[in-house]
Amino acid sequence: MSDIAKRHAAEAALKLVEPDMIVGLGTGSTAAIFVRLLAERVKAGLKIIGTPTSEATDKLARSLGIRIVGPDDLERIDLTIDGADEFDPALNLIKGGGAALLREKIIAEASDRMVVIADAGKEVQSLGKFPLPIEINAFGSELTRRRIHHHIAALGLGEAPSSWRMATGESLLHTDGGHLILDLSCEVIPDPRALGEVLDDIPGVVEHGLFIGYAEQVIVGEADGARKVGRR
Ligand code: A5P
Repeated sequence: MSDIAKRHAAEAALKLVEPDMIVGLGTGSTAAIFVRLLAERVKAGLKIIGTPTSEATDKLARSLGIRIVGPDDLERIDLTIDGADEFDPALNLIKGGGAALLREKIIAEASDRMVVIADAGKEVQSLGKFPLPIEINAFGSELTRRRIHHHIAALGLGEAPSSWRMATGESLLHTDGGHLILDLSCEVIPDPRALGEVLDDIPGVVEHGLFIGYAEQVIVGEADGARKVGRR
């Protein structure tokens, strides 16, 4: 996705932000553009509070002068703007390409509204081409991996290749919460809700990147503007 298309999506999302809102701030390159645009509005006098979905977004937003409050100290989150790695016609999402899926889901679930900013390349008929990120507790992580493959066999996905996300070189990536990321290459996920439910039931799985029923709208950035997909 070119930066201009990302910017068009972020600009359209910015129009949804109103004074005194509490805004969930997503993670990734598209969300970062939104944070930068939001900071310009804040500099010009807009009063909002941001709550970030990752350490990276926290650092960026603070450095740009956005007032940040952690979720423990908030009564509500009005609107969350976040990116995605894939979305389908029902606005189900795959997220976690930036390894922030746990915090992203915590914030999205607690938000009155979640709006996704993404490029057209992320629009799919069926989720699964993008490897599904699964956040896993480091204790017994190989056992958990085997249990995942055992349980998803009933969904026809038992043979899907999986790999641990690496940071740099030989070292495993650790999320902001200190967990590992297992990327599961499904190619096609026939029933995302069913897969999500199976993963939810495996103890070592901290969270997975299937966001079912969270997004009310996807703003799709194009070279010449943005279009909206969804309920509003
Ligand atoms: C972060 O964990 C992800 O969910 C991101 O929202 C996703 O990877 C989108 O990132 P880009 O905007 O950089 O494509």
